[in-house]
Amino acid sequence: MKKQRTLYGLLAGVSILFILYALVKNYLIDPEAAAFLSHKTGLKRELNLPVWLNVMYVHVAFACIAMAAGLINFSNRIRERSRMFHRINGYVYLVSVLLVVLTSGYMAPYATGGKISSMGFNALNIIWPIITIIALVQIKKKRIARHRNWMIRSYAFCFTNMSIHLITTLFHQGFGFVYAASYTIGVYGSLVLLLAIPNVIIRMIGQPNAVIDK
Ligand code: HEM
Repeated sequence: MKKQRTLYGLLAGVSILFILYALVKNYLIDPEAAAFLSHKTGLKRELNLPVWLNVMYVHVAFACIAMAAGLINFSNRIRERSRMFHRINGYVYLVSVLLVVLTSGYMAPYATGGKISSMGFNALNIIWPIITIIALVQIKKKRIARHRNWMIRSYAFCFTNMSIHLITTLFHQGFGFVYAASYTIGVYGSLVLLLAIPNVIIRMIGQPNAVIDK
């Protein structure tokens, strides 16, 4: 129980800081995404900047809503107080995930790093909603432990952008790779890490309140 509380505190800290960072960076500091777009060279199709930017704003907005809604729904205290709130907030999370993926689908063909990066993003666009829907199906079948575990797997993908940028920076600044290649490594590195790490966390925290699904 104590382990779970510490982990939740840590998760809340990282999520809240990243939501604030994403909002300030993308709507206030660099609303034209000039720094990010400067790395896009040799695009196969021309990017319609006003459309791309508006899609990106919607993408970031729903990504932040998904991060916040998911975080709130992992709180035992809030869930115990109101099941109804947990359910409504759960659907807010699900719809937000679908909108992040939809906007991602528009941006993916123009991804930094070209076709290989686009393919990685499209893989994410398929995997993330599937995992999220599995979590929903599990709770419809009243399998609480499995629902929680699949939600942990789904929520990990809220850290896609953070993970891509951390890995990109490591390879670009740290190892001297060119930016575009570092970004592609970031996309695939994130895909692997965000699929793997939740399983470690699930094993670490064990079953929720001794609930074991059949
Ligand atoms: C939930 C947290 C997420 C946040 C806060 C977020 C934020 C952003 C931001 C700010 C950008 C603009 C470029 C940059 O600075 O990286 C972006 C681009 C993009 N995101 Fe997300 N994103 C999230 C999750 C995802 C997920 C899960 C996917 C895939 C399923 C995705 C797919 C994309 C794509 C394809 C681009 C365009 C990349 C490019 O042009 O190279 N994002 N995202």
